[in-house]
Amino acid sequence: MCGIVGYTGFEAAAPRLLDGLEKLAYRGYDSAGIALHERGGLVTARAVGKLGELIGLTRGGSIYRGTCGIGHTRWATHGAPAARNAHPHLSQDGGVAVVHNGIIENYRILKAELEAEGAVFSSETDSEVIPFLIAKYLKQTGEPEEAIRRATARLVGAYALGILFSEYPGRIYAVRYQSPLVAAHCEGCSLIASDVPALLEYTRQVIYPAEGEVVCLTPDAMTVTNADGKAVRHLPHTVEWDSAAARKDGYSSFMEKEIREVPRAMEQTIRSLTDGEGRCTDLGGGIDPARLRETEELCFLGCGSAYHVGVAAQYCAEKLLGIPVRTEPASEFRYRRVPLAKNCLAVAVSQSGETADTLAAVRESRRRGIYVLGVVNVVGSAIARETDAVLYTRAGPEIAVATTKAYCAQLCAVYLLIAAILRAKGNEEEARRLERAVAALPECAAAVVGRAEKIMTLASSLSGARDAFFIGRGADYAACMEGSLKLKEITYSHAEAYAAGELKHGTISLIEEGVPVVAVLTQPHILAKTLSGAEEVRARGARVIAIAGEGVALPEDFADRDVISVPVPDPDVSPAVSTVAMQLLALGVCRARALDPDQPRNLAKSVTVE
Ligand code: AGP
Repeated sequence: MCGIVGYTGFEAAAPRLLDGLEKLAYRGYDSAGIALHERGGLVTARAVGKLGELIGLTRGGSIYRGTCGIGHTRWATHGAPAARNAHPHLSQDGGVAVVHNGIIENYRILKAELEAEGAVFSSETDSEVIPFLIAKYLKQTGEPEEAIRRATARLVGAYALGILFSEYPGRIYAVRYQSPLVAAHCEGCSLIASDVPALLEYTRQVIYPAEGEVVCLTPDAMTVTNADGKAVRHLPHTVEWDSAAARKDGYSSFMEKEIREVPRAMEQTIRSLTDGEGRCTDLGGGIDPARLRETEELCFLGCGSAYHVGVAAQYCAEKLLGIPVRTEPASEFRYRRVPLAKNCLAVAVSQSGETADTLAAVRESRRRGIYVLGVVNVVGSAIARETDAVLYTRAGPEIAVATTKAYCAQLCAVYLLIAAILRAKGNEEEARRLERAVAALPECAAAVVGRAEKIMTLASSLSGARDAFFIGRGADYAACMEGSLKLKEITYSHAEAYAAGELKHGTISLIEEGVPVVAVLTQPHILAKTLSGAEEVRARGARVIAIAGEGVALPEDFADRDVISVPVPDPDVSPAVSTVAMQLLALGVCRARALDPDQPRNLAKSVTVE
């Protein structure tokens, strides 16, 4: 989704804004722009395409002297990717510049109202009404913060805004509702951004403004006021990531770097949720065991890969806990009336902690009196703040749009949650068994990562395939869902995950000569069944690639080159390992097709709008 940056200090702002936008490029964008206080007014530069276009247009920012500005990467929602639709947008009199992340749902009404008052708009965006409204209220009140409050009170939807007023040089204002925003003041400058990677070169002390608070930044200070205009004090959060974590470090892509970081992400997550003996009794202080004991139902909520984490957890939890477990895509849950038990524990899984649908599902669950636990990677994010308790995954910053290490870290966290519930309910033996299996995951994942080149070479032989199918049963099916999503996201191939037993109920009609079918085979009790599904498609000409638990006996005529062996500490947790092989398969196809895995077309890292 769109990215916002802002800098006010004593150095030239433009190169810093461009640098900040680079750091947010992973969020996904199709145009970019900056606005600066310059020569007594506001200037803007906007360009379509990659940031290089904007950098070229502004000669790396060198044509500007201004020391205060805001910048934006736009992911088009209303209006095509075009310079006129790129942000920042100016008010008609040029006195107010705004960058916006989010969607203004009532913009048509506001636009009509402003047009009736003589406004002439120059874009098709929902965002352009914002500077017009702020300018209107500035005229009425003569006071920027009050103008912002009055304007935002008229907006329906989601927004994080960075605002400049030509009459107030050196100042940036910022405000948010439902969309993410971080702000910081450090030696000689103040900054805003949509996400912390843009700030890490400057500081690791940041604040997360609450909804409706107005932040005013100058080179010397940062002040925050609430909806009544009263000053609010925020204690800064310390970000644990350093700026090195957000660099490629010689790898061809962030995605490759992040797959190679899977074992470390798992290890750090497990360490933070367990004690010195590997026990996850209170999950590192994340949750009260008494709350876990009372749990009579589990409901996993998430979107995309985070939803797939829930599906994998569901197989494990329903088998070991013997209580009802469901997994719902958050985007569906929020508009349904899913009946949940009073002592249901809802688990909201989110890497970014800012996915709009997951946040809405959290709010809906809490409104219904359900206790919600967040499994979140970004400290201080909206979902982390709004859930009753949080288990942080320690995957570090994930820059590639397609999640890899965060997904694996989330699996470790949810398996440990299941172990903690087992212990709280008195099943120490099963809790220990599961904890030991989880403790072995980083080493198993490292073994798969160690075979990265072999897997990617195999993948390159699939690069011509237009379609692919992923089949498995039980937890293997959950892993297939994630494996097929990876292939879709970064290679643009049509890929489908199928519960192996469902194949012959329709999908098998799509199998033809040479179509790749990835069969995941790590569940001993249903192995023979999945294998017969694999045989059926092989008989119809499919090329079967087996991702098999070490020691699984495959039919002798399986081509060796098409078998990827993965060490599995326990079938209940196998998706955390088998998926790593599928991440590498997808990356291998992507590489063979010379596509960019980090920023796939049409995709955004954080989906902060519906
Ligand atoms: C995964 O590769 C995708 N980028 C996407 O499905 C993602 O998992 C989903 O949008 C949820 O994001 P979140 O974990 O930040 O909530």
